[in-house]
Amino acid sequence: MDPRYIRNFSIIAHIDHGKSTLADRLLEFTGAITSREKRDQFLDSMDLERERGITIKAAAVRLWYRAADGREYLLNLIDTPGHVDFSYEVSRSLAASEGVLLLVDASQGVEAQTLANAYLALENNLEIIPVLNKCDLANADPDKTAEEIREILGLDPSTAIRASAKTGQGIEEILEAIVNRVPPPRGRSTDPLKMLIFDSWFDPYVGTVVMIRVLAGSVHRGQRILLMATGKTYEVYQLGVFNPYATPVESLSAGEVGFLTATIKNLADAMIGDTITDALNPTPTPFPGFKKIKPMVFSGFYPVDPGDYGRLKEALEKLRLNDSSFTYEPETSAALGFGFRLGFLGLLHLEIIKERLEREYELSLLATAPTVVYKVVTTRGEEIWVDNPLKLPPWGKIEHLEEPLVRVEIHTPAEYLGNILSLCEDRRGRQVEIRFFPNQKALIIYEMPLNEILMDFYDQLKSLSRGYASMDYEMLGYRASALLQMDLMVNGEPIDALSVIVHKDKAYRWGRELTERLQKIIPRQMFEVVIQAAIGSRVIARERVAPLRKNVTAKCYGGDITRKRKLLERQKEGKKRMKQIGKIQIPQEAFLAVFGMR
Ligand code: GTP
Repeated sequence: MDPRYIRNFSIIAHIDHGKSTLADRLLEFTGAITSREKRDQFLDSMDLERERGITIKAAAVRLWYRAADGREYLLNLIDTPGHVDFSYEVSRSLAASEGVLLLVDASQGVEAQTLANAYLALENNLEIIPVLNKCDLANADPDKTAEEIREILGLDPSTAIRASAKTGQGIEEILEAIVNRVPPPRGRSTDPLKMLIFDSWFDPYVGTVVMIRVLAGSVHRGQRILLMATGKTYEVYQLGVFNPYATPVESLSAGEVGFLTATIKNLADAMIGDTITDALNPTPTPFPGFKKIKPMVFSGFYPVDPGDYGRLKEALEKLRLNDSSFTYEPETSAALGFGFRLGFLGLLHLEIIKERLEREYELSLLATAPTVVYKVVTTRGEEIWVDNPLKLPPWGKIEHLEEPLVRVEIHTPAEYLGNILSLCEDRRGRQVEIRFFPNQKALIIYEMPLNEILMDFYDQLKSLSRGYASMDYEMLGYRASALLQMDLMVNGEPIDALSVIVHKDKAYRWGRELTERLQKIIPRQMFEVVIQAAIGSRVIARERVAPLRKNVTAKCYGGDITRKRKLLERQKEGKKRMKQIGKIQIPQEAFLAVFGMR
């Protein structure tokens, strides 16, 4: 295929601005799908995605478009996930494109994710075509939105296309802009093969499927390929494109986008961002920007019904085939029994996996509080990595603890600056820089513990800035920190699954919040229940659940006071016995509620 007539592009947008609807409209307009075939939102293939309205996995679809110049163009629409947890995957999808449609809902204007994505596009030197969507809505204000695009992103507002993915307004203009404004792919078919992996997944019938963008050279069936990150070689078994259904092709050359299957047994070997080359005639340098995805957040998953352990194990094995970015290993808890410790890219990722396990595998699960990976330096100078508070060595053996530190960049309209600065300070941030722009925007840079942004930082940021602030973060490394292990005890017995690692400045607040929550959840019993949060042997917060009192004196109408006292005395004894012999069954909801605390 002559690269002059190929255009590779992505659509980037804030959530709900209409990305999937626009993709459908483009597919329909170019005849890739007929209206009758059209399912709602073709590119979001998983039920879960449709329900949550989030595109999780990137995919690419081929469209043929006869342009106004009379020529037929091959357009590859590369889909991108839309959440910060997946920003690395977005950046790789963008690296496979030459241009983007920057889709902005004209009734909402520029929002957090519009900015974050636009910056990714700028970093990748892509041609940006602003599209003002939802112009059919009565409250759409395309002029104001175009002005925002100029002010905030420095894009020429006259280049913005007014459109409605719902009515089809502007669709042809968008296609013409893709042909005329997005540059054709560079890279020569005669050079050694160089391909970028921008997505991969496991298919039960064909095994690992790898989405590739050919950057140079060409690939054909039967070719011996080398995956540069792992150094492993394979033979190409199948090559194909999605148009939108999977269709085999004999070869793909520089500028083209498609998929391949090879003898790659393990999905984890086909890493997003890796470069594939010819095993016999390799390219000297891989495509830049490859990062090995590492789980950042860990949580223990336990079946509510202990008998489901085997099913959970099976479900994890199957899910892992589909998503190599999470990890799992068995773990046990005195309180929760047998389960697994899972590692995720971020909290959204955690929720997605949990929901899939519950929905697709019909498992009922308890997840323990999410945690980052801490570094423990022992008194003997050893370094231990800990992703679970229960695995901390005894405190006497710990010289100090270190936690992961990130650099956070927040873009916001200046009016929300005050709110955001207090949020960052509250999250143990250290201010690095604040920059102001003429358009009333500010860039705030902080260094912050990863743990603090994992919880609900992103949601808080958005609500404090009415959705306008956007953020991005990168790992800086580890820093020594005054961290403590906090245990929760119920009637003096520590509940291991409720242990957390906290910063000393936050221990009291967390202790209070956790004990208060538990107090509301644990049902009253015949005896008093005492809930305590403790650091070592020091109790820092305490709540009690008052006992249910059998009204034993009800029958003694005001009568003999000594008799009454005797009865109460006996009841007390009963309670004591209960306390000693009775083991409290903490309801499952207690765990759920505590872990739901963000
Ligand atoms: P994510 O996948 O969550 O990122 O969302 P998305 O950007 O793909 O948005 P989606 O296409 O799911 O659209 C969000 C909502 O806006 C849906 O209810 C659409 O029907 C609606 N919508 C999309 N485009 C238009 C439009 O041009 N006009 C109107 N009135 N509604 C639209």
